[in-house]
Amino acid sequence: MTYSEAPIFDEDFREQLDTLLTWRRDVRRFDRRPIDLAILDDLLDRACLAPSVGNAQPWRFVSVQSEPVRLAITEHVDAENRKAADAYDDQQLQSEYQKLKLHGLREAPVHLAVFCDDEAAEGRGLGRQTMPETMAYSVVMAIHNLWLVARARNIGLGWVSILEPDAMSAILDVPDHWRFIAYLCLGYPAQKSDEPELVKLGWQDRINSSTTRFVR
Ligand SMILES: Cc1cc2nc3c(=O)[nH]c(=O)nc-3n(C[C@H](O)[C@H](O)[C@H](O)COP(=O)(O)O)c2cc1C
Repeated sequence: MTYSEAPIFDEDFREQLDTLLTWRRDVRRFDRRPIDLAILDDLLDRACLAPSVGNAQPWRFVSVQSEPVRLAITEHVDAENRKAADAYDDQQLQSEYQKLKLHGLREAPVHLAVFCDDEAAEGRGLGRQTMPETMAYSVVMAIHNLWLVARARNIGLGWVSILEPDAMSAILDVPDHWRFIAYLCLGYPAQKSDEPELVKLGWQDRINSSTTRFVR
């Protein structure tokens, strides 16, 4: 496509984009409608449009479809979640934590594990000599693309991180040089909100965004 054919984004588009950002949620409550595999493929194609260090495109997506594997992962997360609750000394905090729903692994039609191929030849090392972690950052960029394009199709995504990365790599039997980045649930949300669930439940309010800006 030539420069003259490049789209010019208008005010309507900006408003829609703002709405998408406002209504993107981490979703843990799914209705059980399946997601068409062609739709998932389409979403992943768009995730792959993300920027990446040296254009290394190190993201690797594993669609977890085997029921025994999904169950093993769900049970692993539940066990880690119990350990996480036990780690709170403060009884009040522990009880608040235990009331949170921190994954929708049992209901979500799609489980997706995301890895970073630290040995990807693509990019030929550009940009990752002094900051090898930029490979993982690149994968997170793709995840965020996925989060947004899914929401734009009214599909919710929930990120599950209450787990041991090594255990995930072992359960999923992936190559040794793939670094575990994320386990994602996708499905149609049972509820929609413009407010994070952790805000709604009083666990953590949004901070004032102006307090995150500094000048040097
Ligand atoms: C790296 C990362 C890990 C997360 N892990 C979890 C998790 O294990 N369980 C969970 O319920 N939410 C998890 N979340 C979602 C956050 O709780 C959520 O993004 C935050 O509360 C703000 O809500 P929102 O995404 O709906 O705006 C994770 C989010 C990120 C970015």
